[in-house]
Amino acid sequence: MNILLTGGTGYIGSHTAVVLAQAGHDVVLYDNLSNSDRRVVNHLAHITGRPMTFVEGDIRDAELLTRTLRAAGIEAVIHFAGLKAVGESVDKPVEYYANNVQGTISLLQAMQAVSIGTLVFSSSATVYGEPQYLPLDEKHPTSATNPYGRSKLHIEEMLLDVAKSDQRWRIACLRYFNPVGAHDSALIGESPRGIPNNLMPYIAQVAAGQRQALQVFGDDYPTPDGTGVRDYIHVMDLARGHLAALGFLAHHAGWHAVNLGTGHGSSVLEMVRAFEHVSGQSVPYKITPRRPGDVAACYAKADKAARELGWSAQLGLEDMCRSTWKFQRQSESGSSR
Ligand code: NAD
Ligand code: UD1
Repeated sequence: MNILLTGGTGYIGSHTAVVLAQAGHDVVLYDNLSNSDRRVVNHLAHITGRPMTFVEGDIRDAELLTRTLRAAGIEAVIHFAGLKAVGESVDKPVEYYANNVQGTISLLQAMQAVSIGTLVFSSSATVYGEPQYLPLDEKHPTSATNPYGRSKLHIEEMLLDVAKSDQRWRIACLRYFNPVGAHDSALIGESPRGIPNNLMPYIAQVAAGQRQALQVFGDDYPTPDGTGVRDYIHVMDLARGHLAALGFLAHHAGWHAVNLGTGHGSSVLEMVRAFEHVSGQSVPYKITPRRPGDVAACYAKADKAARELGWSAQLGLEDMCRSTWKFQRQSESGSSR
């Protein structure tokens, strides 16, 4: 199948490109490089042994999108492109709605213009808001606590209307939990610009000696060790979830929301210990006040993905830490992005 990946040179898009290419699909990467590097395209060719088409463009450019979809004979789209930093979204809501919501509208217009109805959308567990019960299943009420989350929610709701309007649409909203880790080659991975917001890249930089100590945001949560609990999922497992979603959509029309998580929660201190064990480095940390907006615990009920997509996560914490560490080391030596 010919598949377009918006945001295809980004963290999750690039790993998904590997899985799709290795499954025999032809992948076109479409990205404005606002948070990624064009060298990823070469790394992907190296990993998969086949060149990949790259189009530099913005998803808000419906005309370029339409031309690209038509020229490449695209049959399905996976929509990763968007802005994703929660704190930044509070300061710059207009940019977030423009990129995420307006960008999705122009993608839908382009898909409509060339009669493509199969779409996989990168959603997030953030659409569940403050958890009312755990584990979070897909029937949990949705809400948003910041503009980033609200943009995801708006898009999901928009896609539901679109799917209801015409039965040719086949749409999967994949609600990711906490993606971490990197491809085994260590040629691609997560390269946050500046100070990392997320836990795993921060731990990796502390282990590498680039930062002095991890700040653990609160140890007084109602969790087993008092620190925040999350459902960390290996990015290669997540990538395989997209392939499974495309397989599912081949036989199911309509709108579907599916969690992609492991179903298992780990605390901040468990992550620190796992990383120390795998890297052989110490990860000094200090306890600081809670980060505003954080919840105590968030993890998935992953049954629907197993039942409907025939997918479940295979890789554990050790794999997540090992591949993160390898990517960190390789990045320091300057041989990856
Ligand atoms: P990323 O920033 O690495 O990748 C996103 C890509 O989209 C980047 O390459 C960026 O250059 C591109 N992009 C952004 N705006 C664009 C635009 N207007 N036009 C074209 N390209 C544009 O992020 P990621 O971690 O790979 O996330 C991919 C998707 O998954 C995002 O939609 C994100 O919101 C969602 N998501 C991510 C996480 C996570 O923890 N990483 C969790 C839940 C959901
Ligand atoms: C954050 C986003 C969420 C997004 C997700 C993507 C917020 C409030 N939420 O989720 O919308 O979908 O990233 O992965 O930003 N922690 C520390 N010290 C750090 C960093 C994090 O103790 O330096 C803790 C946090 O308090 C939390 C856990 O580690 O308990 C994970 O944090 P993080 O990686 O930022 O992910 P989330 O907060 O789950």
